[in-house]
Amino acid sequence: MIRTQIRSVRPDDETAITRFLAGLSLQTQTLRFFSGFHTPKPSLVRALMALDERRDALVATLEGEIVGHAMSYRGGAADVEVAVVVADQWQGCGIGPRLVDALLARAWLRGAVTVGMDVLGENRRVLRMIRRAWPEAKLTVSSGSVAVVAMIDPAPLFAEQGSGVSPLML
Ligand SMILES: CC(C)(COP(=O)(O)OP(=O)(O)OC[C@H]1O[C@@H](n2cnc3c(N)ncnc32)[C@H](O)[C@@H]1OP(=O)(O)O)[C@@H](O)C(=O)NCCC(=O)NCCS
Repeated sequence: MIRTQIRSVRPDDETAITRFLAGLSLQTQTLRFFSGFHTPKPSLVRALMALDERRDALVATLEGEIVGHAMSYRGGAADVEVAVVVADQWQGCGIGPRLVDALLARAWLRGAVTVGMDVLGENRRVLRMIRRAWPEAKLTVSSGSVAVVAMIDPAPLFAEQGSGVSPLML
């Protein structure tokens, strides 16, 4: 596994997150945000940095550069909805599942029992990730997108040899 660090978003991450988003391929932008862009809007960057009692956000960094982002927010069909994206050149290295596990560990500690995710129907990669992580998930298809709802299983999130979620970062 590559040596990425996972930590909470910080107020001084704005420039690095803007650079991370602008560097994503059109396909990755579309799979995550359902549309592509050359320069991310400041409102999008702000939304990805929001931290409050309803919203949480983590980044994965490699040598100080942001290579992944995941966020969760309360509400919707589940206790907590999550969304995740990894820089194209670092996809396939396990960063996405680690970000999601860390987010879910934090959400579970705050009382969340179910997790939801909205996925484009064509996004086979994330649907495979979901089936592996949450085999019991309920998938509802409607007009090209898939709404996923699953129970959060805390055991693997906190297992010593599991996702690598460190109590220090919770
Ligand atoms: C979905 C995503 C977050 C997964 O993160 P990740 O760090 O790549 O996750 P993994 O390393 O576990 O790889 C997931 C799968 O994609 C495959 N994969 C990753 N990069 C690949 C590539 N460039 N070409 C082919 N397959 C690739 C991996 O082999 C793995 O396949 P498997 O499930 O058969 O083992 C990441 O691929 C991504 O950012 N995708 C675009 C945004 C998106 O779809 N977000 C989810 C919607 S909210």
